[in-house]
Amino acid sequence: MARVTLFEVGPRDGLQNEARLVPAADKIRLVDLLSATGLRRIEVTSFVSPHWVPQMADAAEVLGGIARAPGVSYAALTPNLQGFTAARAARADEVAVFASASEGFSRKNLNCSIAESLERFAPVLAAAQAAGVPVRGYVSCITECPYDGPVAPEVVLTVARDLLAMGCYEVSLGDTLGHATPAGVERLLALLVPELGAARLAGHFHDTQAWALDNIAVALDHGLRVFDSSVGGMGGCPYAPGAKGNVATEAVLTLMERLGHETGVDPAALEKAARHAAAITGRDR
Ligand code: HMG
Ligand code: MG
Repeated sequence: MARVTLFEVGPRDGLQNEARLVPAADKIRLVDLLSATGLRRIEVTSFVSPHWVPQMADAAEVLGGIARAPGVSYAALTPNLQGFTAARAARADEVAVFASASEGFSRKNLNCSIAESLERFAPVLAAAQAAGVPVRGYVSCITECPYDGPVAPEVVLTVARDLLAMGCYEVSLGDTLGHATPAGVERLLALLVPELGAARLAGHFHDTQAWALDNIAVALDHGLRVFDSSVGGMGGCPYAPGAKGNVATEAVLTLMERLGHETGVDPAALEKAARHAAAITGRDR
């Protein structure tokens, strides 16, 4: 039996892909419901260009409106120093920078190459360290890119190593498209874990092919103990056509309960949050 952390990304990764603008008050209510579940890490929003991702234009309003529960870390995505400065002003407890293991996705998502994105992250890391704000890193497209095709594990290792060397406390490995297979995840982690250590890696699986839970099981076998998920399985990525939602937090919770792992999350409270998520995105539940 292990202690496993569910890193809730629904309010950000889930909602960022909704075509219909969800009012800030509904997002705030969602985060507040999530705060009552026992989840300890919640990615609330992102401080990105409103021209690129209009759904996240209310980032400061949402972070400013939530009721902060003790012991919960409220996170925000920050692609550059401008985003970090705004996130800091809105009192984000931690921030995340997000790189890609493929050049095609990096260009579409961040409008720059992988190397340029890392250059933009350097001042974010410096400012965050000076302010005592923890920084998480993401590597997207860990096995496949919607633009460039298959991605070599060695490239993922290089980018993850760079993010950790820059000062990220953890790197979340993003199966952006949701096409990763258990065999692919096995190959990747067999390369990454011996060098980087399982304690500094998290799994971020979209569930397009319904393999996310199998991929999480492989990652558990490799010692990973942090998994990103989205309440109600909301999500996708505006720059990954065809990508479906993140694996549902409820499904990961059920898996952990079956395997006897401790998460501290209350299923009934989570169900309440999932019902609200469904209501604000117009889905059935
Ligand atoms: P750019 O156009 O190259 O940026 O975009 P720029 O520096 O040239 O600035 C252009 C304009 O953007 C300026 O405004 C800036 O002020 C503004 P203007 O003068 O034209 O009015 N701007 C900003 N505004 C607000 N916040 C900021 C910011 N920075 C510049 N932080 C940029 C570069 C990175 C900004 C843009 O490409 C962008 O916002 N991209 C966001 C992409 C995004 O959010 N993608 C989804 C999240 S990643 C993901 O989902 C994957 C993940 O879940 C893991 C996985 O699944 O793999 C994490
Ligand atoms: Mg994602």
